[in-house]
Amino acid sequence: MSTVTEDKTPKVDAKMIPIYLMGKRYEVPETLTIMKAIEYAGYKYIRGCGCRGGVCGACATVYRKPGDYKIRTGLACQTVVEPEMYLTQLPFYPAIRATYDFSALKGVPEEIFALYPELFRCVACNACGKVCPMDVEVMDVIAAIKRGDIAEAAQISFDCIQCGLCASRCMGELPQYHIAQLVRRINGAYLTPRAEHLKTMVANIAAGRFVDGLTELKGLDAAKLRDVYSAREMEPATAGEDWTPKNNSYL
Ligand code: SF4
Ligand code: SF4
Ligand code: FES
Repeated sequence: MSTVTEDKTPKVDAKMIPIYLMGKRYEVPETLTIMKAIEYAGYKYIRGCGCRGGVCGACATVYRKPGDYKIRTGLACQTVVEPEMYLTQLPFYPAIRATYDFSALKGVPEEIFALYPELFRCVACNACGKVCPMDVEVMDVIAAIKRGDIAEAAQISFDCIQCGLCASRCMGELPQYHIAQLVRRINGAYLTPRAEHLKTMVANIAAGRFVDGLTELKGLDAAKLRDVYSAREMEPATAGEDWTPKNNSYL
């Protein structure tokens, strides 16, 4: 983050509350997320901000509240400020990622053990699960990997957004999220059945089936393109697996 000169006039009719950013006190509207409060205080994000929607993992934040010994964690874009919060962001937390040629892997647990032998330093303290903003049961992920159950580890870690908070609290100094990412890649590449409909779609693309439709769309001006977009037939929320649009000339 860096500071910039900005108009700090409140844009919303909200009560102002004090928060502390890296030790310095600021008054911010109580309705803001930590991310917006930091910007309101005059900082500009250079790192530590991506999607602003809770999915990219760039905005890991740690904070304490008055009278509470516990360190708390969250995503700055999702967590609303509270009075007297002492906070800072961790736009990056150092964790060693193993180097590997993915195409040379066979997708067996022993390869994961060799790339990340620190797996076996896990002391099952569950500090990782307690800080995870996505409620991933990180300790269970590590336990599943140690058992060689790649599919289970991939499933439990599916919601991980790579924020790095688990690694920041690990007694065994594990880079849990890098390990889990490798596991999900192996699961996707080697253990999950191939999607037949994807094969069909790729073959259709290769055969040029969508060229006419795309050429037609690319030839429209912006207003006409908007009309076509607005008039498109949308999949109903209750549609079954076999739903297809009435006009399937583009499929
Ligand atoms: S598992 Fe770790 S890196 Fe993934 S979201 Fe949870 S705390 Fe963040
Ligand atoms: S914080 Fe580290 S040592 Fe503790 S359970 Fe999680 S991976 Fe294991
Ligand atoms: S900015 Fe992407 S998760 Fe917060």
